[in-house]
Amino acid sequence: MTMIGKAVHIGVDLVLVSAFLAGVKRNTGLTVDLDQIENESVRYYSGKYLGVGEKVFDFSSAYFSSSDYFTRK
Ligand SMILES: *[C@@H]1O[C@H](CO)[C@@H](O)[C@H](O)[C@H]1NC(C)=O
Repeated sequence: MTMIGKAVHIGVDLVLVSAFLAGVKRNTGLTVDLDQIENESVRYYSGKYLGVGEKVFDFSSAYFSSSDYFTRK
């Protein structure tokens, strides 16, 4: 149980970091330089990982903009 809780926690943290990176990318255009990664499979999964963050970021934006608790400034 503790192991599962820990795994979920790490998973959530990874997604949050990924979503944060997506937010930075949207605001500044800066993103992790995947070309620096020489190992092909690591590069592939890093791309997937960043893609998850963008999905989460897009989803959150859509969700927040339809929420009464958020407004555009
Ligand atoms: C990339 O790294 C993984 C794990 O470290 C390794 O198993 C794999 O052989 C590497 N692939 C290449 C193309 O170097």
